[in-house]
Amino acid sequence: MTGEEETEDMVVTPWKVSGIVDYNKLIERFGTKPMTRDLIGRLEKHAGYLHLQLRRGIFFSHRDLDWWLDNYENGQTVGLYTGRGPSGPVHLGHLLPWFFTKYLQEAFEADLYFQMTDDEKFLIHPELNLDDTVGYTYDNALGLIACGLNPKKTKIISDVNNISHIYRLALKVAKHVTYSTVRAVFGLQDSHNIGIIWFPAIQATPSFIQSVREGKNVAVLIPAAIDQDPYWRMTRDIAERLGFYKPAQMHAKFLPGLGRGGKMSASMPETAIFTIDPPEAAAKKIMNAYTGGRPTVKEQRELGGDPSICTIYAYYYYLFEEDDSSLLELERECRSGGIICGDCKARLAEVIKAFLKDFQEKREKAKDVIEQFMLK
Ligand code: TRP
Repeated sequence: MTGEEETEDMVVTPWKVSGIVDYNKLIERFGTKPMTRDLIGRLEKHAGYLHLQLRRGIFFSHRDLDWWLDNYENGQTVGLYTGRGPSGPVHLGHLLPWFFTKYLQEAFEADLYFQMTDDEKFLIHPELNLDDTVGYTYDNALGLIACGLNPKKTKIISDVNNISHIYRLALKVAKHVTYSTVRAVFGLQDSHNIGIIWFPAIQATPSFIQSVREGKNVAVLIPAAIDQDPYWRMTRDIAERLGFYKPAQMHAKFLPGLGRGGKMSASMPETAIFTIDPPEAAAKKIMNAYTGGRPTVKEQRELGGDPSICTIYAYYYYLFEEDDSSLLELERECRSGGIICGDCKARLAEVIKAFLKDFQEKREKAKDVIEQFMLK
């Protein structure tokens, strides 16, 4: 399977991510480009500040970001597209690219099309029925809106409910993609149902929807985790044949789970923090998380811990410690044995409790405005 490599147990496909992910290897295998200082500088200039996820290399790779920025700098309208497969509640890992998308939307005053693939998740997961996945579209949209996206510039597409808006375009995409391409790009097996064969045409479509609606080609950027790359390889292959631009991409790393190794995954709820978790329950998960600490306090004081393998440190790094010098200070304290894991966890648990309380209030408020966000 293209993108699915068994070496070192690294598997990165749209439907499965496991093993220790080597991001440099993914750049090589998927044929993407690493982010550069120059590109980061251009984003910073337009946004007015440097986002944590750029400073810390969380968005680490791209395709044609330079071209997308050229378009903007030449006064052209630029657009954004991203999405979510609604197969369960939203966890912190999902928020990572959504926060970043909000940053881009503000910086570039860009329209965002956000696709909820309630069809894909129905087709892929034997245990989910359509009411489940469409229900999660609503639930997940609340989480998305709570991230602060602009209601005037954001359209959420439920594939199931909004198919009439995308069907004509999806058909045009489908006509240009052969079965053998889809089979190779997605590693399809004879046992896959035929819905999965067709679905990639649906996921390609929002790359072009703004161009169709505006009656002119719009340069679109897709910020997303790197596992979605096969869709964009396929989409870019056919874009120009349909008269559209190839969508540009920015690729994010995965937020680690609270266990040892692996990304945060809803299928392991004890190692994932869901945005709807009661704050006390989330704090408990933090207190049970895997750290880079020593077996005993005595050893920890003498030898220090290892933040590079610590999930608690990772949460500060990815999300919860804005300030670079405070982060560095935490790393030093850890390595020198100045801080022990129990205290470090308790500190993060408080931060996460406050975060969840605030986020849950915003999520409640989203119920009043969700209709403004849904594609009509
Ligand atoms: N297939 C994605 C998922 O399972 C959902 C999705 C649709 C998406 N369109 C997207 C993700 C665009 C990122 C960007 O999560």
